[in-house]
Amino acid sequence: MKLIVTGGAGFIGSAFVRLLLAGKDSLEVIVLDKLTYAGNPDNLAPVAADPRYRFVQGDIADSVAVNELVEETQPDAIVHFAAESHVDRSILSPEPVVRTNLMGTFTLLEAARKYGVKQFLHVSTDEVYGSIPEPHDADESYPLVTSSPYSASKAGSDLLALSYYTTYKMAVCVTRASNNYGPYQFPEKLIPLMIANALEGKSLPVYGDGQQVRDWLYVDDHCRAIRAVLERGRPGEVYNIGGSRSLPNLEVVEKIIAATGRDHSLIKYVTDRPGHDRRYALTSDKITRETGWAPQVEFEAGLAATIEWYRQNTKWIERVRSGAYREYYDQNYANR
Ligand code: NAD
Ligand code: TYD
Repeated sequence: MKLIVTGGAGFIGSAFVRLLLAGKDSLEVIVLDKLTYAGNPDNLAPVAADPRYRFVQGDIADSVAVNELVEETQPDAIVHFAAESHVDRSILSPEPVVRTNLMGTFTLLEAARKYGVKQFLHVSTDEVYGSIPEPHDADESYPLVTSSPYSASKAGSDLLALSYYTTYKMAVCVTRASNNYGPYQFPEKLIPLMIANALEGKSLPVYGDGQQVRDWLYVDDHCRAIRAVLERGRPGEVYNIGGSRSLPNLEVVEKIIAATGRDHSLIKYVTDRPGHDRRYALTSDKITRETGWAPQVEFEAGLAATIEWYRQNTKWIERVRSGAYREYYDQNYANR
């Protein structure tokens, strides 16, 4: 099997590539990644010498580059992770989000159609369902009601991808996962940001009242689910992927404070995010029923492993928190 993995230098994409290449299967994995601020070749260092792996730097919205690569490599499948993936950045600067998430997905779908790629797996998010009132959980038929440029762009790209099944009979699957956490996550999202700040004794910025609820999924569980959908998913279908662990943000932050031996005084309540979704909740019954997948990593164990990874990888944190990260941090958090 020959795969193009877009966004393979990011947090989840790189975990997926490391997972695939940890096995002995005869595979070819071609990573296509622009190396934005979130893409990091260090994330792929563990597989860099594997002869089954190749890295191509390129933009998924660049149709010439995408067409050339797909024509040259003739992959069996495209697994599409590449995205501008952060809600706060999408609020500060929506243009790259629309370009990559919508135009980039369209460009890949067109190349897949033109060169007859058999399978297309579009990696999406539970955020497309918007805020879910208690006591409901979203299944795959729940309406798409988006709040941020990020979630709106993901909903749009989901529908576009599914239209290629309906219209062109391309074997498209869409996966919608809940909030991921684990090693190698860029420290702009809640868990890695709080861990990195707590380890350094810096303040922990909690938006609003901190009672917003997220469902937490360990990144390797997500990657195993994507592999299951690639192997056993039905074309034209959407699969939710949840971690079965809903927690208010404040409780997550408290757990990080306890595990790093810090004090509650580090918590700083800051102005809420505009359009902040109150609660994400989904059911993953369908993927479990159809593929046998279920999450394996309990939140407390996954969080402990994640904190340990950040403790051990201070050089990685230092490198990704370059000048550009400082700029973003000030833009998002100063005067908040
Ligand atoms: P990330 O921000 O860590 O990585 C994104 C990767 O895409 C980076 O390597 C970046 O360089 C690359 N990229 C960005 N724009 C590109 C472009 N125009 N062309 C080529 N490459 C480009 O993101 P992540 O957290 O690993 O998320 C991966 C996917 O999973 C995204 O599609 C996201 O919407 C989805 N998702 C994420 C989560 C989560 O909690 N992080 C949850 C559910 C779904
Ligand atoms: P985030 O990791 O950005 O994921 P998403 O918005 O895609 O769910 O945020 C998770 C939750 O944590 C969300 O409710 C916003 C909140 N949050 C904070 O309270 N403080 C922060 O500094 C960040 C980054 C997020």
